[in-house]
Amino acid sequence: MTDLATRLPKAELHIHIEGSLEPEMMLRLARRNDVALAFGSVAEIRAAYAFTKLDDFLALYYQGMSVLRTAQDFEDLAWAYFVRADADTVRHAEIFFDPQGHLPRGVSFDAVMQGLTAAAARAERELGITSRLIMCFLRHLDEADAERILDLALAHNETHGPGIAGVGLDSSELGHPPAKFRNVFRRARDEGFRLVCHAGEEGPPAYVWEALDVLGVDRIDHGNRALEDPALVRRLAADRMPLTVCPLSNLRLCVVDDLGAHPIRRMLEAGLVASVHSDDPSYFGGYVGDNFAALQAAIGLTDAECRMLVRNSFRASFLPDAAKDRHLAAVDAAP
Ligand code: HPA
Ligand code: ZN
Repeated sequence: MTDLATRLPKAELHIHIEGSLEPEMMLRLARRNDVALAFGSVAEIRAAYAFTKLDDFLALYYQGMSVLRTAQDFEDLAWAYFVRADADTVRHAEIFFDPQGHLPRGVSFDAVMQGLTAAAARAERELGITSRLIMCFLRHLDEADAERILDLALAHNETHGPGIAGVGLDSSELGHPPAKFRNVFRRARDEGFRLVCHAGEEGPPAYVWEALDVLGVDRIDHGNRALEDPALVRRLAADRMPLTVCPLSNLRLCVVDDLGAHPIRRMLEAGLVASVHSDDPSYFGGYVGDNFAALQAAIGLTDAECRMLVRNSFRASFLPDAAKDRHLAAVDAAP
């Protein structure tokens, strides 16, 4: 990473907490919880990380998360992430989690929430990192399933205070367009949740249009394929619609052939509010700092581009304006 990208404060807006499960922790939790895994060593797990498309990765991702069973497991997972994020000068994180990947295994919604919020409180206290949670609906399941998980989130927020700031849509994209979830997103918006949606990672530009026009999202996650549609690019730029872009994820899932061909510079040049994030750092070869370093090596980000990308990350966050302004001033002040 350039010295500048290393120093600059950042907001991490596209991190699936289950995708930060490192192989060492996977093995440790499998032993602790007596969960049978198909892998016996870190080397075997890493050897399985050879993907040609999103669904290859997702199969492994759901296997990996099977070791997460107790509130303590979720707290350990999230705390390890915050410590790692601190090393990359992340000052604010908006963290995805996938409750529908846990409930069918007998893990309670409250156990997931208890573990994640305990780690978040500790991160704010000990590291000064603020965070919010974004609950994702698994789009390969049906909308009724998503409605049930939204009910649980509402009940949790009522009992324990607003732990969840927003909802998102993740998992297998092709064949599962955003419009499939129009009713549950409308209800989430009416209940005060912010809305984000993975779109245009493998799916066509039409899915990005749907995320905007049918769901009414506040941010697009990925959005790479929007570049195929000039009218869509104009719309995204005019709306100042943030795109949370994940270069190493794009490389590992073959969304781009090599990072030299990554569209991040074209996105900025087109006036898009793009920022750089890590997606599933354990599975894709690195955290947000590694993503900057890889871009740096491949396309030589300029200092101005680095500053623009981290400024965009704070602008696109769900922080209150006063906190955004403080972070933006810190970016400007970084030598
Ligand atoms: N895309 C879609 N769903 C996901 C991802 C991703 O990169 N990571 C975890 N769930
Ligand atoms: Zn993602």
